[in-house]
Amino acid sequence: MLIGAVIIFSITANAQQNSAKMNAFINSVMSKMTLDEKLGQLNLPGSGDIVTGQAKSSDIGKKIREGKVGGLFNIKSVAKIKEVQRIAVEESRLKIPLIFGMDVIHGYETVFPIPLGLSCSWDMNLIQRSAQIAASEASADGICWTFSPMVDIARDPRWGRIAEGNGEDPYLGYQVAKAMVNGYQGDLSKNNNIMACVKHFALYGAAEAGRDYNTTDMSYPRMFNEYLPPYKGAVDAGAGSVMASFNDVNGIPATANKFLQTDVLRKQWGFKGFVVTDYTGINEMEAHGMGDLKTVSALALKAGVHMDMVGEGFLTTLKQSLKEGKVTQAEIDNACRLILEAKYKLGLFDNPYKYCDENRAKTEVFTNANRAEARKMAADCFVLLKNQNDLLPIKKAGKIAVVGPLGNNAANMPGTWSVAANFDKAVSLLDGITSVGHQHGAEIVYAKGSNLDDDTLFEARAGMFGKSFPRDNRLPEEMIHEAESVCSGADVIVAALGESAEMSGESSSRSDLNIPLAQKRLLQALLKTGKPVVLVLFTGRPLTIKWENENVPAILNVWFGGSEAGYAVADVLFGDVNPSGKLTTTWPQTVGQIPLYYNHKNTGRPLPEGKWFQKFRSNYLDVSNDPVYPFGYGLSYTTFSYSDVKVSTTAPKGSQKLTATVTVTNTGNREGKEIVQLYIHDVVGANTRPVKELKGFQKIQLKPGENKTVSFDITTDDLKYYHTDMSYNWEPGEFEIMIGPNSKDVKMVKINWTK
Ligand code: BGC
Repeated sequence: MLIGAVIIFSITANAQQNSAKMNAFINSVMSKMTLDEKLGQLNLPGSGDIVTGQAKSSDIGKKIREGKVGGLFNIKSVAKIKEVQRIAVEESRLKIPLIFGMDVIHGYETVFPIPLGLSCSWDMNLIQRSAQIAASEASADGICWTFSPMVDIARDPRWGRIAEGNGEDPYLGYQVAKAMVNGYQGDLSKNNNIMACVKHFALYGAAEAGRDYNTTDMSYPRMFNEYLPPYKGAVDAGAGSVMASFNDVNGIPATANKFLQTDVLRKQWGFKGFVVTDYTGINEMEAHGMGDLKTVSALALKAGVHMDMVGEGFLTTLKQSLKEGKVTQAEIDNACRLILEAKYKLGLFDNPYKYCDENRAKTEVFTNANRAEARKMAADCFVLLKNQNDLLPIKKAGKIAVVGPLGNNAANMPGTWSVAANFDKAVSLLDGITSVGHQHGAEIVYAKGSNLDDDTLFEARAGMFGKSFPRDNRLPEEMIHEAESVCSGADVIVAALGESAEMSGESSSRSDLNIPLAQKRLLQALLKTGKPVVLVLFTGRPLTIKWENENVPAILNVWFGGSEAGYAVADVLFGDVNPSGKLTTTWPQTVGQIPLYYNHKNTGRPLPEGKWFQKFRSNYLDVSNDPVYPFGYGLSYTTFSYSDVKVSTTAPKGSQKLTATVTVTNTGNREGKEIVQLYIHDVVGANTRPVKELKGFQKIQLKPGENKTVSFDITTDDLKYYHTDMSYNWEPGEFEIMIGPNSKDVKMVKINWTK
């Protein structure tokens, strides 16, 4: 006890000493700074097209020398970063080092699955490890700050950036955010960790109509119960920075939203780091209708934003605003201090070249070991959506026809926001299948079969950032014909279809979520051959694949699995890895059902479970309320059975802990992983409550015939929620405790929790 107290005392004392030391240091730096130099620290220009040696003569080089730059982003390689840093620390008056950021979103050169895919692993160790490897590679290449994790809850798959987040659930989102921050930051005193920047604060994923950058307007209970928890998770894990989002929130753009950036973030959550805008977020407030650049820059600073990405509103207007009394010296000083603190915490004042070790860059990036881990992780993120008559796994024998525009396109494998990837080193599906299948004598043949889409302009829009789709100018029928003849004599057809990498991601909203028509025609032709068809689905979002689900015998959803995805898909198709991913978003039947999410409210006229149309019930004339695949859904090559749910008591009282258990048995004949999910329904509340909410999950591994008892501890913390008056508490009464393999197929026990 005494020893524990002494340890805690000395940790606190050390922290106090460290922070006193940091304050003293920063005070001394700031005492030498002019107003212009302070404003310079708040400025984050993009790196433009700086190439080695060019920085010296570029406009950015000049600004750095004049102390008008706080950091740079998306500049790649130690050589370039070192040169730019050298200008800052040798040629600027105060020699303050720059901070170097990058969108290291799902890996660096070794690319992991897109974040939506990673979340489908439900494996926090895996997710943390992916961030750790990303940090080690990025830091070896000069980067010390990443614009990640992106944790925006999204319930609208029309929104392209759903690919970058962790799906629709706030509980899962909270856990993933924490894991990512821990993975990136670890111990920032080391040179292989980097500072995280949680984004986009806030509610960017609730853009109306799924159209990127669009308005959000939301009640406070929904905001706090359903959308804010993941950002809070990142802050709880100690994220060093936060990025303000582009959208407006209840009438005020997030970039000038004092309620979000100060009241919630700093006062309620105790965030101590700095807030950076998104790309020209301040300038865009002019289009939002908030005033001219001088006005909106002052608004942003006053709201609690500290660094201005690209737009230079702070740099060019705050001096005048200070003169006019529109901002205060204290507000400028505070912003400057927070940026300097970040640099201090990263150790840049001690060693500005801490992340500029050329040897590390040569030996620690895109290593065989990292790639091997990426391959394994990718396989754990794929979701088996359908597997009629155990068509999968396929044999490494006979003739396998790989068909489809995504079958032989390596550059598309890493997916959206893979800024540092070497596209020419990514592994295509065809290469992956050939390399794994050939070893055992399978014959692999390939035909493209169709373009991504018939519409050339759409195809061009969906192939930006170097991930182009070389277009085949033959007629669609000719391409299908060729595919049919390539498939003749094949034992199985692997149809590689879906979206290109840039059909999701930023500014890639879609109003139609079908597989593009050209590909659908191809799929129909392949099915007509009568041969078994496996659809390997590439996508950055839930698609509307009701028809495919009804007509294709096997569907494996592989998202964009990263640089090693080609091998990973082969590992799963051939059964070397048993798939275990589960969806973290609901997959609708049609766009008309959106937003469709599992944790919805009941309404006063709910449709009875399993029914479709009933007049004067909350439903549609032309489609049932059901999704094609519910949240939490995913199959395995083995099967699992769930026992009934047992609870330690059906009448818990006050702060008593309740334990819910279930026994899960592997009833198939392969070893497999299962994600066991706990949901709670608050049957009677002071406010209307969701029909169920995820409150726990565990990923277990079982050999054939083996069983495991999985238990979840439930406390009244799991019952609390924000009410319409914003009080945060729970009400006694009836609760349904549900456990199952997905959000739909659950077993339930009712309990009555009294105060
Ligand atoms: C995106 C951010 C990104 C930033 C810097 C913006 O367009 O919204 O997510 O971090 O660019 O590249």
